[in-house]
Amino acid sequence: MAIDRTNFTYRGRLVHLVHTRQFVRPLLEDMFDVADAARRLNTSRPGATYLKESLVGRRALLYFVQPSTRTFLSFQAAASLLGMSTAEVRSREISSEMKGESPLDSLRTFAMYHDLIIIRYPEPGFSEQCAGFFVDHDLRRHVINGGSGKDDHPTQALLDMYTLHREFYSRGGVDGKRILLVGDLARGRAVRSLVHLLTRYEGVRIDLVSPPQLRLADDLMEVSRKTFEDVRESEEIEDFLADADAVYMTRVQSEYEPHIEVSESAIESYGLTEDRVAMMKADSVIMHPLPRRNEIPITLDRDPRSRYWEQV
Ligand code: NCD
Repeated sequence: MAIDRTNFTYRGRLVHLVHTRQFVRPLLEDMFDVADAARRLNTSRPGATYLKESLVGRRALLYFVQPSTRTFLSFQAAASLLGMSTAEVRSREISSEMKGESPLDSLRTFAMYHDLIIIRYPEPGFSEQCAGFFVDHDLRRHVINGGSGKDDHPTQALLDMYTLHREFYSRGGVDGKRILLVGDLARGRAVRSLVHLLTRYEGVRIDLVSPPQLRLADDLMEVSRKTFEDVRESEEIEDFLADADAVYMTRVQSEYEPHIEVSESAIESYGLTEDRVAMMKADSVIMHPLPRRNEIPITLDRDPRSRYWEQV
């Protein structure tokens, strides 16, 4: 099977979903149409039965060796909607890796029992390596990256982009919108991946707010400056709130690169408050990949602009 190694497609269709760069605009739009159709089907019993029969007999493994609540459960729920059975490995400590098995031998073992391996892994690049391994060995299995290190989180970015797509559908779409990204822009993989997907839209403007040590990394800054209509940066969230069509909040990712010190006051300084939200446009939206810490107080959950629970 001649699989294209750069984007893991076969005759234009995705075989493995391992990095955000795989998503070009037509593919994103196709996926959003499929998601809309699945949502519609799932509202009726015959529709739900149709979905449930679509992957009967297929098996998915959730290989999640890094903490996860939403991503893990969302894949489990999706598999259940489509009639797939699931199994899980949630720690390297209780797998044969503790006996010295290499990660790729473990993967090969997983492939003996499963059609699809969904991977959450602490180091970047592992999902891609697995996909390459399957291609090299002509193992007809599929890999989905459910979060790799601080690098990439393509499925979260799809969810975020789908949320924006639905939100702006009747308002000219995502093209030309101004998106404010706030928080740990250096180590947040969800926000990094979202920036990549936003580059697929026309005339988008992004505003960035973070403490200085948590600025968007140079590689993405360069891509952003080349692609977006406008990129503005500040340490003060107030500078941009009034202009934003969407505000994407993130938490401090202290599990990565713990040598980066961020003071409590720096963290508090970028959080949303009732007063700050009062500066936002009435039809803008507040998003967050979750989990949150204090950057969005729970009192804002009632604000009609909050979208983070639907986003899940
Ligand atoms: C994100 C992650 O794991 O990167 N969470 C998620 O998958 N919804 C964001 C985060 O942990 O801050």
